[in-house]
Formats: sequence, structure tokens, C-alpha cells
Amino acid sequence: MPETVLVTGGAGFIGSHTCVELLDHGYEVVVVDNHANSSPHVLDRIAKTASRPLTAAHLVDVRDREALGHVFAAHRIDSVIHFAARKAVGESVERPVEYYDTNVGGTCALLSAMHEHGVHRLVFSSSCSVYGDARTLPLTEHSPVAPTNPYARTKLMCERVLEDICELLPQMRVLALRYFNPVGAHPSGLLGEDPCGVPDNLMPYVAQVAVGRRERLSVFGDDYPTPDGTGVRDYIHVMDVAEGHRVAVGHLDDSPGLRVFNLGTGAGTSVLELIAAFTEASGRPVPHQVVDRRPGDVAALVADASAVAEAWGWTTTRDLAAMCADAWRFQTLNPDGYPR
Ligand code: UD1
Repeated sequence: MPETVLVTGGAGFIGSHTCVELLDHGYEVVVVDNHANSSPHVLDRIAKTASRPLTAAHLVDVRDREALGHVFAAHRIDSVIHFAARKAVGESVERPVEYYDTNVGGTCALLSAMHEHGVHRLVFSSSCSVYGDARTLPLTEHSPVAPTNPYARTKLMCERVLEDICELLPQMRVLALRYFNPVGAHPSGLLGEDPCGVPDNLMPYVAQVAVGRRERLSVFGDDYPTPDGTGVRDYIHVMDVAEGHRVAVGHLDDSPGLRVFNLGTGAGTSVLELIAAFTEASGRPVPHQVVDRRPGDVAALVADASAVAEAWGWTTTRDLAAMCADAWRFQTLNPDGYPR
């Protein structure tokens, strides 16, 4: 019997790519999504991209414990990947309660439903933002955590909840993956990142400028203590993030309890370097202008990616050129994103 994975937030950016990766590797996949920040058309795109169809997709809010219970009752779920969450840092400052409700409340509802139905294997979507304004780079899983905004605090709080439930239930096997900056798209151009409204994040903004949908990119500060003064991040191809999740599911039984891993490449890229790489990949200029720093931004975040390499014998393989080329393909094939 193939293993069945429940993917919450399966229609989202990382969720959709992970569904394809799982299907292509023989897993049965059940999606739960309320499409609060994703298009239902993504499910059709998953069907077109993957070698096999999804087992099922349920329109369910992850906070709805009863509805989740029906999903667990309808399928023989072996493991869960929990992506469904809100992720805009700025919005989390404006609406903290909604962020705690969805991200922490949703995780608690999911854990209750899992336990009630005898499912104890979970891969949790965490974030490098739990490290906050890092003093020493690269960041290992033992670096101090000091989240600087409500979004990041919800992710750390979920990790604490997972730690506590693992303490209580010896049968729990949980992997929390702290992603750095996922970008890029499926190489088919059928799946990618399609933010609603004005993009908050750098790569989708750059792509929309290159395609002519937006006039110019604002570079948020060039006076950081980095080589060219602009912010440095560890961009990771979304296909590597998806692959990392698929590999993680295969390693859930390595040991009981909660284990935390970074998911990054270990390479830092500045805003100006990313603009240059995107210009090269797209053949289009990316007009930009330096403006003030964005409140809450940090100078540099780069992963020490060696722990997953040692634990699973797995590393990322896609470079910045591939991230830009694939993001550009998705942007040109879907200039206005998914149909709304
Ligand atoms: C943030 C969060 C991260 C979250 C991610 C996705 C923090 C520290 N990081 O990442 O947890 O998962 O969003 O929502 O809270 N930039 C510009 N112009 C722009 C946009 C961005 O110059 O229009 C710069 C930023 O200043 C930064 C870099 O590009 O240096 C990357 O920014 P962004 O893509 O928004 O990601 P993070 O802020 O690193």
C-alpha cells in the first residue's frame, strides 16, 4: 500500500510543489486548503504537472477540528505535512490575533484531530524568521531564537507546542523545517508563486517588474553591513524545498520526538545580486531605486545547511540561475498569475 500524506495548505506556493513531488514519488496525497491565500485553479495545475492525480482535495479551514476529523475518517492518513498558515510579516503586526488564531490555533486543531485518529507523524513548516536579527552567521539549528514579529513568534510557538506534545506522547515523530527564502517555480511553468495584490517579497516583485506589470522595484536600504550594502538572504529553490519535504517524510521514523532542521542552501545573495541574476535569466532590465530600509528587516540571514545533509544525505541542487529562470518562466506563462 502506498503511504498517504495529508498536505494542509496544499494549494499554496510551497504546498503545491510538494504535492507534485510526493505524487511523482509514489505517495498518495490528500489536500486540505481553504483557499484563503491560494487559487482553487492550483489543484488543476497540480493535476497537469504531476504524474498521478491527487487522491482528494478538501475545502477545509485548518482551525475547523470537526471538518478535519471528517478528513481523517475518510482516508487512511499515514503522515501529515502542515503548511496551512498566514505568512505576511507586515500583516502579522497589524493583525496579530488573526495570526495566532490561524497559525497556532490551526496547528493545535490539527494535532488534536491527528491524535484522535491515531496519526502521529508530522512535518511542520517553520521559518528561519524564528532566529530574528542574527548575530552570528551561518545559522545552525542551535543558534539562539529571537523572533522579531508576530508571524515569526507564531512559528516558534508552534515549535514549542510540538515539543510539549512530543514530551507527552512517545509515539509522536515530528520534523520542524525552518525554511530560509523559498523562490522559483516548477520548471514546467505551470506552478509558481502568485501573491494576491502587491507582492511583499523580493522575487515575485522583481518578476512583475521584469514582465512590465510594475514600474520599478524599491530596494529597501543599501546601508546594511553587507558587501554591497543591500540585504542578504539564503534563497532556496521551491523545488528543493518540496524535495526536502518528501525526503523528510521518509525520515520521520528515524527517531521519536521533535527534530528541527534548517532548509537552506548556505549561500547568501544580496538584493542587487538577485536583480543581476534575474536580468541575466530574463533578458529584461529590472528598473530599481534605493529607498529607506523596510522596518523590521534584518541585514543578513544565511543557513548552515549541514545538519540535513548529515542526517539524510540530502542537499539542495538548484542554483540562483535556476531559481530566476524558473520564476521567469512562470511569470511569462502566467503574466497575471493564476485565473481568479
Ligand atoms: C520574510 C520573513 C520570512 C517569511 C518571508 C515570506 C523575516 C525576517 N523574514 O522574509 O520569515 O517567510 O518573508 O513571507 O521576517 N526587498 C527589497 N524590495 C522589496 C522586497 C524585499 O529590497 O520590494 C529586500 C528585503 O529588504 C530583504 C530581501 O529583499 O533584504 C528579501 O525580502 P523578502 O523577500 O521580503 O523576504 P524576507 O524579508 O527575508
